[in-house]
Amino acid sequence: MSDLGQVPWPPGLIRTERLVLREPEARDRTTFIELLASPEVHTYLGGPRPRDEIEREMPEVPERRPGSFVVELDGAMIGQVLLRRATGHRRPAAVGKADLGYLFLPEVWGRGYAAEACAAALGWFDGVLPGEPVVLTTQSANVGSMRLAAKLGFTEVERFHAWGAEQWLGLRPPAT
Ligand SMILES: CC(C)(COP(=O)(O)OP(=O)(O)OC[C@H]1O[C@@H](n2cnc3c(N)ncnc32)[C@H](O)[C@@H]1OP(=O)(O)O)[C@@H](O)C(=O)NCCC(=O)NCCS
Repeated sequence: MSDLGQVPWPPGLIRTERLVLREPEARDRTTFIELLASPEVHTYLGGPRPRDEIEREMPEVPERRPGSFVVELDGAMIGQVLLRRATGHRRPAAVGKADLGYLFLPEVWGRGYAAEACAAALGWFDGVLPGEPVVLTTQSANVGSMRLAAKLGFTEVERFHAWGAEQWLGLRPPAT
């Protein structure tokens, strides 16, 4: 994965009905560590890395790069939405395309926040890189993620086996 490339960054605050999307700040560091060290969050992502390793490597201001959004609810970070470029993807259909990823704290799952935040991030993407499709890779066993992908307008390109599990590659066509 690499950065999206030449896009205006950071964006202004993006407000949805219930959430704010913004660039990461130093005050988000603890939640980033929580997200990356959580076994529950990483159930379908190959398991978490050791917490002490994550803490050691996490910069003072985490994940500050184009396409990396902190999702905030009532002033506190609840998740991350990430748009990057799939430069090294295993499947030719995805190589070089923008790629959507998302991680939310388990205590906020099931309230539609991920769908609301991802839709807003994709809206931002359509504005800065119009005419570009977006891909998404998720384990097909990750039911919540599969449902979210469908809600966001991704449809199946193919399934493939990698990282010890069946993976689903979806594509969202360019907005018209
Ligand atoms: C994948 C993940 C983001 C999904 O989160 P989520 O909270 O289940 O996703 P959504 O925002 O779509 O919300 C789901 C449910 O909230 C419900 N909901 C409750 N209140 C709602 C509201 N006010 N508005 C909309 N939906 C609402 C919906 O009915 C929806 O359920 P459904 O899909 O059965 O219809 C989350 O499980 C996660 O962070 N997992 C770990 C990381 C991961 O696996 N990422 C994938 C790799 S890319």
